[in-house]
Amino acid sequence: MKYLQSSISLSLLSIIILLGSCGPKRQVLLSPDSHIQVVFEVVDGVPTYAVHKDSKVVIKPSRLGFELKASGKLDSQFKLLGANMESENTTWTAPWGPDKTIVSNFNHLGIRLRHQSTGILIDIAFRAFNDGIGFRYQFPEQNNLGEFVILDELTEFSLADNHQSWWIEADYDSYEKLYQSTLLSEAKWVNTPITMRDKDGLHISIHEAELTDYAGMTLQQLDDRPNTFVSALVPWADGSKVKGSTPFMTPWRTILITDNAAQLVESNTILNLNEPNKIDDTSWIEPMKYMGIWWGMHIGTETWVEGDRHGATTENTKRYIDFASKHNVGGLVVEGWNSGWDKWGAKDAFDHLTSASDYDLEEVAAYAKANNVELIMHHETGGDAEGYELLMEPAYKLCQQLGIKALKTGYAGGIYPRGEHHHGQYMVRHYQKVVETAAKYGIMINAHEPIKATGKRRTWPNMMTREGVRGMEWNAWSDGNPPSHTLIIPFTRMLGGPVDYTPGTFDVMLKNFEKERVAWNADDLSQTRVHTTIAKQLALSVILYSPLQMASDLVDNYIDHPAFQFIDDLNVDFDESKVLNGEVGEYITVARRSGKDWFVGSATNEKARDLEIKFDFLEEGQSYEVSYYADGAKAHWLTNPDDYTILKASLRKGDQWTLKLAPGGGQAIVIKEK
Ligand code: NOJ
Ligand code: CA
Repeated sequence: MKYLQSSISLSLLSIIILLGSCGPKRQVLLSPDSHIQVVFEVVDGVPTYAVHKDSKVVIKPSRLGFELKASGKLDSQFKLLGANMESENTTWTAPWGPDKTIVSNFNHLGIRLRHQSTGILIDIAFRAFNDGIGFRYQFPEQNNLGEFVILDELTEFSLADNHQSWWIEADYDSYEKLYQSTLLSEAKWVNTPITMRDKDGLHISIHEAELTDYAGMTLQQLDDRPNTFVSALVPWADGSKVKGSTPFMTPWRTILITDNAAQLVESNTILNLNEPNKIDDTSWIEPMKYMGIWWGMHIGTETWVEGDRHGATTENTKRYIDFASKHNVGGLVVEGWNSGWDKWGAKDAFDHLTSASDYDLEEVAAYAKANNVELIMHHETGGDAEGYELLMEPAYKLCQQLGIKALKTGYAGGIYPRGEHHHGQYMVRHYQKVVETAAKYGIMINAHEPIKATGKRRTWPNMMTREGVRGMEWNAWSDGNPPSHTLIIPFTRMLGGPVDYTPGTFDVMLKNFEKERVAWNADDLSQTRVHTTIAKQLALSVILYSPLQMASDLVDNYIDHPAFQFIDDLNVDFDESKVLNGEVGEYITVARRSGKDWFVGSATNEKARDLEIKFDFLEEGQSYEVSYYADGAKAHWLTNPDDYTILKASLRKGDQWTLKLAPGGGQAIVIKEK
């Protein structure tokens, strides 16, 4: 009732302003709880917005607009023609986690502007949620604009201060970077999400939602305006940014604003800014754990290419299926199963219809089915999106015929057509085509070298997970990912959605293998290793949420390993998630529920920590049995990563524990009803 009242008063406010004699110039939108305020204004023809949280300025007045090829800059000479307010407060159900019940509660302000000299109409929609805002431009159907080319989007984000910031540098083709932790003034040109913390602990993160048929947005700092970004879209080969025709909508520009880091991770605002589900029957879409014939290639004991060290043989695949089937691992991806790996990087290199000579796809698919394991198809394209579009339909048909319903894609290489970029509009269209075509054939997607996650999984819930991060693989052939890396990802990259980071490497020092390691992607393998303890690897399987969650190590490192019981028990079909604590780059503890079981993952950066957690999320009056996988007393990611213990305990609602995390360590907990 209170909510209704506040939305009615907002509508009245807008009507009153529209009736003003000198014409409307200023519109104010409040979040449902009234803490966040968006102020839209046209000052001397220049449209701007500002964002406040209570008495604090979050975004100072920032300009809005475009440069179009035909009409030049559209960032001044505007007249505000009208405005309307709407509200939504609903709950919707997602087919899979990390939360299945999602509240969508926002107030909406629609603005109509006319550019005076060209007559072009531009609408801007603002939405204010309790934990952030979104806004998008729309070009309505009109006589003054049909087909158009955007040369630049001129959206500014003028932050109020030189905040502490976590970001990766902008790159048109890769998000596989180490995060920088600097003052905002050093974040000159970044990819999104960029996450910031102000001096009072307010957290702010800028990203985008519903990136469809548009170019990915990077953010560039203006030289003459401190702490101010302007949108910099990834270009086409011809230098233009976006090609479209009216009616047309841009993605949402999102600014999450929360009182602490944990709330940032719990936000569903980016998801809520996406359209509802377009797939009628989602019963075939199922989260699962998976293993892979994968790590061997990265550490160099096996090859993708056929030969005496080829990983994807029928025999080896059956060995993995046998283990997966016995240990509750739902899927298996097999890389190097097809022909073309010897030509990786060339045009039309990969053939997604023809198996390697020592791999019998039909036999393997039948064996997987008989053993209750989903064979996950792998399509590496080497970046040849053009060639892949020709093979897509027959290749997906083949999957359907074989009963294969999950697919890992990859774009490791420069894009064909040459000159296009992984994050430009050409590829955004391509990735979208993959998701929609896959949905038609009943296939779930795990995309590597993808476009950034922007909540598309709400509309296309077969878009399960994606990489778009410097994942586990970098530990196999580079200086690797430092302990803090996985403590930044939940507060940055993952605000867009699930991540296929691929945790679960038990042989963290990379020492347990019979075959020799042959470098394929590095000069020197001697220093390569994973920079965590074993217990942290388990914890990351809970923290780094992915509905297709990989256990990344070689099967030989799992056979008879007591810690594998955690992965065996883990059910990644989560109903609900809670972030119990967290600070960006420092530590995090996440609890996730699957049915009646809870799984908790807690991890720290280089620093040892004692973290207090309270089990107040459990059922009243119920007793639980707990297995926990903790760092041993002498564990240390650098010197003693294999030291861990498995302990049992019982638990009731409200119990309090102190989790002892070693430097670079973690803890993973399974909680089941007694
Ligand atoms: C890069 C992907 O991220 C990785 O998972 C895959 O193994 C290789 N490309 C080969 O497809
Ligand atoms: Ca990759």
